[in-house]
Amino acid sequence: MTNWKASGLSKDLPPANVMHADWQGVDLAVWRSASGRLSAWVDRCPHRGMRLSHGFVRGETLACIYHGWTYGVTGACTHIPAHPDMTPPATITATRFEVTERGGVIWIAAKDDPTAPPDIAGFQPLRSLTVQVGEQALLQALAADAPGLTEAEGGLRGTVQIAGLDTQICLMLQPKAQETTLHILCGAGAGPAQVSRWAESLRRQIEDRSAP
Ligand code: FES
Repeated sequence: MTNWKASGLSKDLPPANVMHADWQGVDLAVWRSASGRLSAWVDRCPHRGMRLSHGFVRGETLACIYHGWTYGVTGACTHIPAHPDMTPPATITATRFEVTERGGVIWIAAKDDPTAPPDIAGFQPLRSLTVQVGEQALLQALAADAPGLTEAEGGLRGTVQIAGLDTQICLMLQPKAQETTLHILCGAGAGPAQVSRWAESLRRQIEDRSAP
């Protein structure tokens, strides 16, 4: 049983960018330095709590948008603009989570997780899509609409008929309150455009059925 959760697709976080991710109800800032190094921190600046995901990446650092406190990839504060000659105390540090990439997916786990992220060899990352239903409702809907998908490490996998072709699909679920993001990966079968249209159609069906 893995504790790693799919939290985005690698291709959606290019170098020198930061994004927000929800990890088991914890808000995280996930960012990639200019050289490509990935970090995941609690989305709260140690200074006055501004979201770090609103900040900006400069080289190998992430700067908070509020007062410009700047943090290196270790999470330690390296620069306080209001006190440019001061070396920030070592106690000022962002709270880090484990983050890695495998199979084109960004995986996040609580710190010091000894397990490895799921192996998704044979699948190519396609896109992420947010469905406006909670995780349990989405799983129930998928069981009805895509019965060929069964639970596998980190998500659902199996065969779905798309454009008349048996198509290998892998779905990683990232829940957040009353919505769930699906990270979609595809294997042999229909092409990416057909799989993408299938996923959008599925989203419409599920949202329509769950509308009050
Ligand atoms: S809240 Fe981040 S620098 Fe002040």
